[in-house]
Amino acid sequence: MSVGAMPMNGRKEDAAEVIKRKQEHLDMSLLPEVRGGNTGLEAVRLPYDAMFEVSDEALDTSVTMAGVELAFPLMFGAMTGGTPLATPFNTCLRGLAARHRVAMCLGSIRAVLCDEGLLSTYGSGAVEALFANIGAEQIGQIEHNHLSRVCERLGVRGLFIHLNGLQEWVQPEGWRHFSVSYDALAHFVDRCDVPVYIKEVGNGIGGKCASRLASLNIAGIETASVGGTSWVKVEARRGGGLSRESIESLSSLGYNLVESLSSCRRALGQRTLIASGGISTPLDIVKALSLGADLVAMAQPLYRWYREDGAEMLARRIDEYLEVSRLIWRSTGARDLKHLHERQGDG
Ligand SMILES: Cc1cc2nc3c(=O)[nH]c(=O)nc-3n(C[C@H](O)[C@H](O)[C@H](O)COP(=O)(O)O)c2cc1C
Repeated sequence: MSVGAMPMNGRKEDAAEVIKRKQEHLDMSLLPEVRGGNTGLEAVRLPYDAMFEVSDEALDTSVTMAGVELAFPLMFGAMTGGTPLATPFNTCLRGLAARHRVAMCLGSIRAVLCDEGLLSTYGSGAVEALFANIGAEQIGQIEHNHLSRVCERLGVRGLFIHLNGLQEWVQPEGWRHFSVSYDALAHFVDRCDVPVYIKEVGNGIGGKCASRLASLNIAGIETASVGGTSWVKVEARRGGGLSRESIESLSSLGYNLVESLSSCRRALGQRTLIASGGISTPLDIVKALSLGADLVAMAQPLYRWYREDGAEMLARRIDEYLEVSRLIWRSTGARDLKHLHERQGDG
């Protein structure tokens, strides 16, 4: 395998290092102790229609993202790629995303930018609403032609840029001086030939930041809030050395799902808002949608089901989550997403 190198803020990192890190991330994301805080959804009560006036046939759960009509507002959140360990998992997720007509975001394409031979690790199988992912740290370093070629080869509809300042600080080989320039981000977004979405990785996005981001030419925001997988905790496990008190302090910084949703919705207007970070039940899915999200993204639970119980159980769980979510949705009396947004707060 030819192993290229990509400069990372003055430091060259080769594909072998990236692959090793990706494998550690997959393993450590499953540890119960890397879950962080609460989503805030516990305190949210959905309206409940004891008559179930909206029948299953009348329920319309469709939503449009990047020009693709999805059957249900769910996205498989950015997880992995770049390691051969990820290939069967990504292929399995692609199959499920296509079958259910939901969206899927691939894990960071950083490894592919080092070595295009790793493209196959992002799995195979066509998905209409497929997205690529890259870290903000790379945006000043990628050549646009290179990025466009990789996006084209992956067959993606758009690109998610992750903001992960705390993760970079804790990560043993991370970019400790993470700082994203608004102008550089604006320049990058304007030059992209696909829709761009911005996401965090577990500490959420608040009102001020969402307003700054909304003034860019972006298509939407994924919250990736406090309450789900904590990347501060994952990196702390990899690196060691930090006290429990420091880890807890950093992993609780930011905004939980309920806080992020409210401020991002206000800032984004009609643009796409994706709720993520700790979505773990069908009830969480419908509650997050009712709070104004256009879609909900799940990451770690999907990998956990796959690793612990296999591809068949993952498929069964997704079937079940969609079916139960539809039932809960109908129980609110809302016939579609717009109506669900309006129903929140009704008795
Ligand atoms: C194994 C794993 C790998 C991840 N890799 C990426 C990544 O490459 N890029 C990214 O933006 N987020 C990545 N994430 C973060 C998720 O997309 C998501 O924002 C976060 O885990 C919160 O969602 P969750 O609570 O459903 O896991 C990863 C998450 C997991 C579990």
